[in-house]
Amino acid sequence: MNIFECIFNRRSTRSFKSDSVDDKLIGVMLYSATHAPSTGNTQDWHFVVVKEEEIKKSLAEAALQQGFVAEAPVVIVVCIDKEAASMRYGKRGETFYSIQDTASATMIMMLAAHALGLKTCWVGAFDEDKVGHILELPNQLRPVAIVPVGYSGETPKKPRRIPFEQLTSVNTYGKKYDIAYAVRPGDKGKEYKFKQIGNYLEDIFKKKLEEAGDKRPKEKKKLTFTEFLRRLSS
Ligand SMILES: Cc1cc2nc3c(=O)[nH]c(=O)nc-3n(C[C@H](O)[C@H](O)[C@H](O)COP(=O)(O)O)c2cc1C
Repeated sequence: MNIFECIFNRRSTRSFKSDSVDDKLIGVMLYSATHAPSTGNTQDWHFVVVKEEEIKKSLAEAALQQGFVAEAPVVIVVCIDKEAASMRYGKRGETFYSIQDTASATMIMMLAAHALGLKTCWVGAFDEDKVGHILELPNQLRPVAIVPVGYSGETPKKPRRIPFEQLTSVNTYGKKYDIAYAVRPGDKGKEYKFKQIGNYLEDIFKKKLEEAGDKRPKEKKKLTFTEFLRRLSS
């Protein structure tokens, strides 16, 4: 899977099979997370990997009863290490940079999971005090994201994305940044039409999947760590 497939096709998943996840794959996710950028390379994060049923259930309750959190075989709680965050950058480090650092780590972890055939969901709606109590976190750790991880039969539809053209200015605010790509429809088409880059990329991916059809190598149900290593080195 290339990086763009990974970015475009990752989906938040809210139902999980009970199949266990190899710890080594969780290790790949965590190792990837530590490659996220962080302010001055602070690496002001800590991860709690939860596998015990009772603790997962308590986390689901603390996450405003989002039951799917407990359904996943593994739940990773991403925490800010406030001490590490404030050491060099004081208040701004603790209240601002640390949020961005841990968000980057969470995102990279989720992309790595997707590349491994695992499903995740970023859960941000939870009672921080309750989560801290459940996980027996020391004062310096602030939980910021709960990420259930597992396998799923669900293929969620992609929620609509606002075209970036509507969300971007060029040079100064409000000046439109329109990037249209000229596409000739089919071999015989003579007329060029203009498509937004995003739509064009989606079309390419759709076409690639259609063309591959049955020729696509049948994915094993689970990507094993050994198979992951083989792909990594081939
Ligand atoms: C900071 C943050 C908090 C979120 N909290 C929740 C949550 O509590 N529960 C949930 O089901 N999804 C949560 N999500 C997932 C979003 O709903 C989801 O990313 C969004 O709908 C887009 O869908 P996609 O991830 O499939 O692209 C959260 C996402 C982020 C970034």
